[in-house]
Amino acid sequence: MKKKVLITYNMLRPGYADLMEKYDVTFPPEGRESFTYDEVLDMISEYDALQSMFNFPVDKKLMDAAPKLKIISNYAVGYDNIDVSYATQKGIQVTNTPDPVTEPTADQAMGLLLALCRRISELDRRLRIPGAVKVELLANLGLSLYGKTIGIIGMGRIGQALARRAKAAGMHIVYHNRHRVDSAIEEKYQAVYLPLDELLSVSDVVSLNAPYNEETYHLIGKRELSLMKEQAVLINTARGPLVDEQALVEALRDKKIWGAGLDVFEFGDYPLPALLEFDNVVMTPHTGTQTIDVRHEMAAYVSRNIIHFFEGNGPVSKVNLK
Ligand code: GLV
Repeated sequence: MKKKVLITYNMLRPGYADLMEKYDVTFPPEGRESFTYDEVLDMISEYDALQSMFNFPVDKKLMDAAPKLKIISNYAVGYDNIDVSYATQKGIQVTNTPDPVTEPTADQAMGLLLALCRRISELDRRLRIPGAVKVELLANLGLSLYGKTIGIIGMGRIGQALARRAKAAGMHIVYHNRHRVDSAIEEKYQAVYLPLDELLSVSDVVSLNAPYNEETYHLIGKRELSLMKEQAVLINTARGPLVDEQALVEALRDKKIWGAGLDVFEFGDYPLPALLEFDNVVMTPHTGTQTIDVRHEMAAYVSRNIIHFFEGNGPVSKVNLK
């Protein structure tokens, strides 16, 4: 009998072709974006594999309802939506998608940074309203990136992809990471390791590229924001709860920092309403990997993780059970 795979979200189909050929794959019904948690809970007992999305909680209750489940193939590099230690206890393999998300997420960070520092989205907005923009040489002043220092917090794949972009833009690179990276990587980007507080006080741009876990919750709060330069900007393309969003609102109100570029928010899909007041905040709704190409690549990648796991044939991007 064919193995059964449950996909929680209705994604573009081409990337799933191999998976659909080999297994019995269930997608949400046409016209629906996704299954609800309760629907998945009702169905999961019959499935051998689950493809979850970064915003879909895979908790103890769900895994306890899934006696056949062997693999959770997460459609994301981040897996904070999954109780990985419980999956490990139950012998369930968890996998993620590091390769396809690295470059687009670094693009998003760079895009937010440019849009913020050159006031691109603010001026675009104003130009659409008659009389709302001043066309004067000393109006609309932004910040240059060339020669400035970017502090990258989380020097993994995405952090390094951002370092490559920042270096091309003529920036100096400092970084903070749980462990210092190889000296070859430091040399490649001429990146200098710094303790967090020092990074915050010397950087003109602080970019968050670390995973979300207990250690990184509110990594940037009131104290950390107060260490940043007044002309510094904060970029977050990682996970919302890395930043204490209320503290960020206050820091912006008190002009403790120059601005922020955010692709993720602390309390779900939307920012705190107070953030909407600021022209010096550029926001996108967690679209770091949202390109046509990457959506196809991620579908193929989550599929390959499942196929290679069941067939023992080729690499699987394992989060646990190495
Ligand atoms: C996106 O947020 C991801 O974790 O890949």
